[in-house]
Amino acid sequence: MLGTFAHHTVVNEASCIKIEKDVPLDKACLLGCGVVTGWGSAVYAADVSPGDTVVVVGIGGIGANAVQGAKLAGAKRVVAIDPVEFKREKAMEFGATHTAASMAEALPLLQDITWGTMANKVIMTMGVGDGQVMGEALALAAKRGRVVVTNIHPAFETGGANISLLDLTLMEKQVVGSLFGSGNPRADIPKLLGLYREGQLDLDGLVTKTYPLEGINEGYKDMRDGKNIRGVLVYE
Ligand SMILES: NC(=O)c1ccc[n+]([C@@H]2O[C@H](COP(=O)([O-])OP(=O)(O)OC[C@H]3O[C@@H](n4cnc5c(N)ncnc54)[C@H](O)[C@@H]3O)[C@@H](O)[C@H]2O)c1
Repeated sequence: MLGTFAHHTVVNEASCIKIEKDVPLDKACLLGCGVVTGWGSAVYAADVSPGDTVVVVGIGGIGANAVQGAKLAGAKRVVAIDPVEFKREKAMEFGATHTAASMAEALPLLQDITWGTMANKVIMTMGVGDGQVMGEALALAAKRGRVVVTNIHPAFETGGANISLLDLTLMEKQVVGSLFGSGNPRADIPKLLGLYREGQLDLDGLVTKTYPLEGINEGYKDMRDGKNIRGVLVYE
């Protein structure tokens, strides 16, 4: 029930969160979805604990914040996976300790750095969810590890999820879904803006490029070409 790409919009008061005047709106806008979803996927849905090894698959607006959330929750290692080199470089700035270009590449890396125990948490934040890669995701998870499915799968995906249910049972693994980072906008948006104010959450680094309204098509093209963590429309 929101209107976007407009100077003004009418919204239900239930959809409004007060933003304090010292927070720039071109950064606060990131908390409308991506930041809370990614951060909460790590902190709430994955329930990352100090010392965990965490994998984040897909370093866009959501995944970059899952990396930040995992780091702030005390993860010992954060392995960021993305086929785009620029995204992997940005992941290291947000707190990743290792990167890989694919889950196949991450498997031997995790076996090596965890001495075979694998990741406590695997957070799926790819551009489009794909049931056929869920087996690979589960294989990255440790015994009693948890795979969080935050990325959205096509509504008419027909192949289901390609996972070993034997592995699920014998290794007591978990697969859980998460919407808006399993967070609460009224509490979490002010909380995360507070972390930004204190320098514990990087919002500035998330904005790769800003565009005027007339540049919206360029913004969409850059998004599709994988050039931005986030592109922000700034209205004069
Ligand atoms: N659950 C929720 O509440 C919620 C909320 C918002 C968005 N989403 C979903 O989260 C997902 C991510 O959104 P976003 O805005 O960060 O997208 P994005 O386009 O900014 O980033 C997606 C990233 O995934 C990478 N990627 C693509 N295929 C990959 C693969 N096979 N392995 C590893 N990385 C891969 C891309 O290179 C890109 O960097 C989308 O599916 C989106 O619909 C879910």
